[in-house]
Amino acid sequence: MSDARFPDGFVWGAATAAYQVEGAVSEGGRGRSIWDTFSHTPGRTAGGDTGDLAADHYHRWRDDVAMMADLGLQSYRFSVAWPRVQPDGTGPANQEGLDFYRALVDELRSYGIEPWVTLYHWDLPQALQDAGGWPARDTVSRFADYATLVHDALGDRVGYWTTLNEPWCSAFLGYASGVHAPGRTDARDAVRATHHLLLGHGLATQAIRAVAPAAQLGITLNLYAVTPATDAPADLDAARRIDGLQNRLFLDPLLEGRYPQDVLDDLGPLVDDDLVRDGDLATIAAPLDLLGINYYTRHTVRAGDEPAPQSPFPGSETVVMVQGEKPVTDMGWDVDPAGLIEVLDRVHRQAGPLPLYITENGAAFPDEVTADGAVHDLERTAYLRSHLRACRSAIAAGVPLRGYFVWSLMDNFEWGHGYRKRFGIVHVDYATQRRTPKDSALYYATVLREGRLPSG
Ligand code: FCB
Repeated sequence: MSDARFPDGFVWGAATAAYQVEGAVSEGGRGRSIWDTFSHTPGRTAGGDTGDLAADHYHRWRDDVAMMADLGLQSYRFSVAWPRVQPDGTGPANQEGLDFYRALVDELRSYGIEPWVTLYHWDLPQALQDAGGWPARDTVSRFADYATLVHDALGDRVGYWTTLNEPWCSAFLGYASGVHAPGRTDARDAVRATHHLLLGHGLATQAIRAVAPAAQLGITLNLYAVTPATDAPADLDAARRIDGLQNRLFLDPLLEGRYPQDVLDDLGPLVDDDLVRDGDLATIAAPLDLLGINYYTRHTVRAGDEPAPQSPFPGSETVVMVQGEKPVTDMGWDVDPAGLIEVLDRVHRQAGPLPLYITENGAAFPDEVTADGAVHDLERTAYLRSHLRACRSAIAAGVPLRGYFVWSLMDNFEWGHGYRKRFGIVHVDYATQRRTPKDSALYYATVLREGRLPSG
């Protein structure tokens, strides 16, 4: 195997999420989600943008799948919108919602593209939020019921499932910093949400496993390399804290059935006494077939004195995020491919032979369609090249990395940033919904056609 070649069978894909691309929020019997409410609340998203239309994928999915086939994608990771399947989060399935995803899956399969379903990418039915949301234990069973409904409908044609996308974001951006839906700022609730999300994952995993022993089941975490700005003890402690809240609070219970004690100590009274009940941790640690990792950047941190406003790190609000010296993306995130190798290496050390997939990796840059009709996104192409090299190095070092999904297939509604941040390898002109593959898409197509990184 030459240096640049990826192993045979390595999965190449692209990812999206329902609320970010679908639009059609009032069609097909879809109910409201917390993101409809949040984005329609003045001041919550940049420019007041909402996902009402997004990339209109709900109507353009056939063309979008054909475009994926043109690019040579082997796999497509998308999420199912819970409120399309259960408009109020409970009860029988809305057949029209399920039919949409069945048709999408069949279309993908007709091109030989493997569908990869994420059950929850942040769009909790609003009715369930009104009943308490993720801080309420009842939501755990609601999620397992929903997962079962979706699996009943798609299980005969979908082999790869991830329960949750980035539970850290759902819990800490949704309930602590409040920059994501439902926009709450209650640290105790964020901690409750964390546990219930993980428990919902475990329960859903067990439920699907019971009826589909061959299904490949996993979860997707957003993991970061975390480094202290200096080796001063206070900065080392800041790094321990952020690594704890961001990475270990999720990895340890999922992989080892225990919460990290130092993180529980940091959280102190924010952890309610009755939160973790007998048997919960065993459920959370239900065996996985794969772990999805979303990697974007590194956190470099130091100790500070003042609590940061809107900190998503309860109990560690004084920790300061330090801008590195590296180039940054349009999100202000350091471009740090070495961090990806560190993350893969540490997860592999903890997870042993568990197959790992990069379920998201990519970068926002302010792209423009130029006079030649193309989008020359050199920076994104360089970002992808350097991170794919990192993947290749990790594999060479023995990490069981089995696939890579670029975030994102196309420009879309980037949550609180609205349409101002473009992550796609395909450009979307929101006025016309015209799709234009960017140069990075052409680069990516070459990589996956050849199964290797082109030289240069
Ligand atoms: C991740 C999300 C995804 C997208 C990227 C940029 O945290 O899973 O939906 O917003 O970031």
